Amino acid sequence: MSNSNGEEQTDMNANEPIPPASTAPPVPPAGPSVDAQNKAVEPPYENDLLARTAELDQYFAFNDDAREVEFKRHDMPTPWLNYLSNGTFHTMLSHAGGGLAFYKSPQIWRITRYRFFHLPTDRSGPYIYLQDAGTGSYWCPTYEPAFRKPQEWRSSHGMGYTRFEAQADELAAKTVYFVGPYENSLIWNLTLTNNSSKVKELNVYAYAEFGMMEFMRELQWQCYNKHQVSVQYHEKKALIYKYGVENQPKPDETPLVYMMSDAPLAGYDGDREEFIGSYRSESNPAAIEQGGCTGSAILGGDPCGALQVRVKLAPGETRTVNFFLGTAMNETEIERAISHSREADFVTRSYAALQENWARYLRAWNCELPDQDAQRMLNTWNPYQSQRNFLFSRNISYYATGTFRGVGYRDTAQDILAVVPYDPEAAKDKVRLLLGQQYRDGHVNHYFFPNEGWDPVTSIHSDDHLWTALAVWDILAETGDAAFLQENIPFYDGGEAPLYEHLKRAIDFTVSRLGPNGFPLMLRSDWNDQLFRVCREGRGESIWTAMQFGTVLLRMKDLAAASGYPEHAAYYDRLYGEQKSLVNTLGWDGKWFRRAVMDDGRYLGTAEHEEAQIWLNAQTWATLSGMAESDKGLKAMDSVRDILDTELGIKKLHPSITTFPDPADPLTNYNKGTGENGAVFCHANTWAIIAECMLGRGDQAYKYYRQLIPNIAMEQAGIWRYKAEPYVYASNLFGPESDRFGLANVSWLTGTAAWMYVAATQYIMGIKPVLAGLSINPCIPSAWEGFSVTRRFRGCEYEITVKNNSHVCSGVQEIRVDGERLEGTVIPAYPHKQSVKVEVIL
Ligand code: NOJ
Repeated sequence: MSNSNGEEQTDMNANEPIPPASTAPPVPPAGPSVDAQNKAVEPPYENDLLARTAELDQYFAFNDDAREVEFKRHDMPTPWLNYLSNGTFHTMLSHAGGGLAFYKSPQIWRITRYRFFHLPTDRSGPYIYLQDAGTGSYWCPTYEPAFRKPQEWRSSHGMGYTRFEAQADELAAKTVYFVGPYENSLIWNLTLTNNSSKVKELNVYAYAEFGMMEFMRELQWQCYNKHQVSVQYHEKKALIYKYGVENQPKPDETPLVYMMSDAPLAGYDGDREEFIGSYRSESNPAAIEQGGCTGSAILGGDPCGALQVRVKLAPGETRTVNFFLGTAMNETEIERAISHSREADFVTRSYAALQENWARYLRAWNCELPDQDAQRMLNTWNPYQSQRNFLFSRNISYYATGTFRGVGYRDTAQDILAVVPYDPEAAKDKVRLLLGQQYRDGHVNHYFFPNEGWDPVTSIHSDDHLWTALAVWDILAETGDAAFLQENIPFYDGGEAPLYEHLKRAIDFTVSRLGPNGFPLMLRSDWNDQLFRVCREGRGESIWTAMQFGTVLLRMKDLAAASGYPEHAAYYDRLYGEQKSLVNTLGWDGKWFRRAVMDDGRYLGTAEHEEAQIWLNAQTWATLSGMAESDKGLKAMDSVRDILDTELGIKKLHPSITTFPDPADPLTNYNKGTGENGAVFCHANTWAIIAECMLGRGDQAYKYYRQLIPNIAMEQAGIWRYKAEPYVYASNLFGPESDRFGLANVSWLTGTAAWMYVAATQYIMGIKPVLAGLSINPCIPSAWEGFSVTRRFRGCEYEITVKNNSHVCSGVQEIRVDGERLEGTVIPAYPHKQSVKVEVIL
């Protein structure tokens, strides 16, 4: 790569030939048929793995060495996204160039506009147009949105960047979009090569559609507030967009937006009407078709940032032009950012730092498995997705509009789990943030808005406040830093207390809200958002929360000891015993565990009812919590296998609800087989994997794990049924009672990511930090000969090799550390060693 001064820069990709762009639209297949047991008996595609794999090959390919996924065509079933971010400035970008940029919060500082729910889909985006100055013909390296398409095209998502490589009329264009660590800006790094024998004179346009920073205000008050924004040309040859409207939140923290290039400008437009024109779109902008940018600015109107640059390329010549869409707090800072961004090596340095940051982050875990799909997920895409969840909670994606959800307490507490091995300090910060939302009585805010400053959502749920203890226990196990428990953290309603005391108050809150049968009251809901419908009167109880509570109590015993309160452990033990006894008596239905007690005293999740007889969570957590007595855990998980499992994941409940408990007021409005009804809820599937591992059934656990690896599920369902990205987990797949069994929903931002990571690394691979060290207790498919993992733990690299010549699922026979036989299965920390070799025999 070279910058606009022609200097060589680091290459961002291998120079492989670009495949031709395909154009034939695919035909969606008919849905699978369903038998009486709600299993798909006929997958939507021919049941021939090779054919189905070959079909996916036409659409995308993984490049595992580069940690990239490559897209071979633009017309995917949905926009397949990536998130580019430096933690402050973010861009969500699709494989075809659609997406939006925002600063800190997509709710109040959204910079560009994205049309959720609207056609044309996946518009707008940070687009570049390449125009032959002689013929006027133009196209986009992103494939979309210009009418004229490149003759060759591909795009790739990597760790924090997205690259487009295209060619038309013997002009090759490579664009890498990324957000570097040194400025809060999206960098559009365009490299052009003239592959013809003639001189090429080009107009290069960069275009971004600015929206109002507050998307909800825009929907309501755009006609007034649009006249309170401006786009002005700045003498440093940049456009500056100012959003300053009445009643906006945090005006003093609202940045200015700039758009600039490191090449001399030939023109600009700040007025969308001038650049795009009347009854036109991003496909055929008036300015490009009618002689170039018009030099428009606005003091009120419909804003955009459009820049025009002229590029002359001799035959064979390569040149790079960079565009920048960024934020800074005032004009002085913008001027500094502009000068900085124009430094000759700024883009190269920024890109190198981005790559180094990800390489360093991902160094915490690396595995070699007999299953390439699992290996790819665990080394790259699963931790990458988990880190994005940690950053964005459930805020903005193709499915979430970024309009009302801030940080979800329950969701974020779980997201922390998969970041702990990579960045325990960031995990600690998130715990501090969460506990700052706890009230003195121990309950917490359900959602809150640290960036926006809005009032939190204060509904009280039976599970929210309990999740934090799991994250804290994991942080302690990872770092060995018991002092963290003593750190003072403020309560939301005043005062402060050591972290351990916050956790204890969460326990006390649950104890103060036990219901008539002794289980925790459901309150607004438990993990399952929908359960309020049967517990509105406040008498309903959650049997699942009893299990979650039990799981937390086990962790609290350790945390009490580590905090110097051994006497609390006895108290937690007693509570655990009481809940365990209830779970095994009132909670047991004969073949599975019941889910809840409804307001009217009847059980939910029993064979006595026609619908919603069995719920997944109550079966899995009975084992996770260690509460299931005798063979009840096995029986419950057998029921999961026999009743809930499908070849595309495990249903959340069965049969789906249509009229239960009251046709006039059913438990959920979700259609059967969808979302929170009888869908395959991927997040909850992760706990089935853990439960099966805890029961020692590695083959069953792996079946559950592998069938939801996104590209495997897509292979099974067919790409036009599955639709979502094949490299990140979705929240749910429509279940077999839906006529679109296998349709994936709400990808990227879902608790599935963190828990899949935990399930696979800590339970299948069995490499789990505990307070005393690193525990090794794999539960793998019996067919595996073994696997190896390099795991960074408390400053030392553990190079672990597991051998399974006996072809068992579990049971450690021997562990050697640097050749020395170890007693037990917990390897101590080695703070003074760089690395140790660990050999494990099953
Ligand atoms: C999605 C919500 O974000 C999450 O908090 C909840 O646990 C699941 N739905 C299940 O209801």
